[in-house]
Amino acid sequence: MKVFKTKKELNLYFKEFRSKNTKIGFVPTMGALHKGHLSLLEKSSKENDITVASIFVNPTQFNKKEDLENYPRTLENDLNLLKNIACDVVFIPSVEEIYTTTISSGQFDFDGLENEMEGKYRKGHFNGVGTVVKKLFEIVLPTYAYFGEKDFQQLQIIRKLVKKTTLDVTIVCCDTYRENNGLAMSSRNARLTSQEKEAAAIIYQTLNGVKDKLGKLPLDAIHKWALEQFENQPLFELEYFTIADEETLKNVTNISPKKTYRAFIAVYAREVRLIDTISLNS
Ligand code: PAF
Repeated sequence: MKVFKTKKELNLYFKEFRSKNTKIGFVPTMGALHKGHLSLLEKSSKENDITVASIFVNPTQFNKKEDLENYPRTLENDLNLLKNIACDVVFIPSVEEIYTTTISSGQFDFDGLENEMEGKYRKGHFNGVGTVVKKLFEIVLPTYAYFGEKDFQQLQIIRKLVKKTTLDVTIVCCDTYRENNGLAMSSRNARLTSQEKEAAAIIYQTLNGVKDKLGKLPLDAIHKWALEQFENQPLFELEYFTIADEETLKNVTNISPKKTYRAFIAVYAREVRLIDTISLNS
């Protein structure tokens, strides 16, 4: 496994492969790797000639300084995990390598996707994600890039980014990897107590409950039921619950058989923010 810190080193390594139509699979991460990331890398390595992971805690996508400071950084452990799977290249740039002189986001128009859900609570977050993902795509030039379904809004925004630019990469959506109790794997889970981790089963249980009730109860009753699940939960504070159109990500008040929908949840366990989603169609 090759580890590169600069664009120059990475370009040099890729020089001989680019001309040979080599399929490059890319998994961008912010480190603190878990089985979810490893499953994306495994999928990439089955589908590509070379698999690249990046580890970069992107400062411009954090709207709270404490969140950036507290983001888990476990580089040594991450590299050990990557060594044991089929990852060919790891790119671990510094902030200066990515942002050169100014650490700031570009402004993107994602056709309104950026204003829903996460966009309402994390101002500027998706400009930060768009900025770094565009920069990383331009450096790695992947054929396929792999993202987890848990961050579905991010996934749709990255698809939009690719559509609106000349980036020639196919975005692949990968199933959410879950703990035994249904908690979606996330680097943030490392900051949960074991009691919170156990109780966090309520998130996926609620999403499944919503799916189960769809078509049997009116949407407003389902919405009310979902909120009630968190009312008596001392460990979690619900930030939002929504049933949204998969394409526009807008909250819906009725269901059309011609469209696809998802339920989305964001909760806080103390200062740790957790999100999850479920398809209501499949
Ligand atoms: O999902 C993440 O880990 C990050 O948002 C990403 C896509 C690596 C960009 O920093």
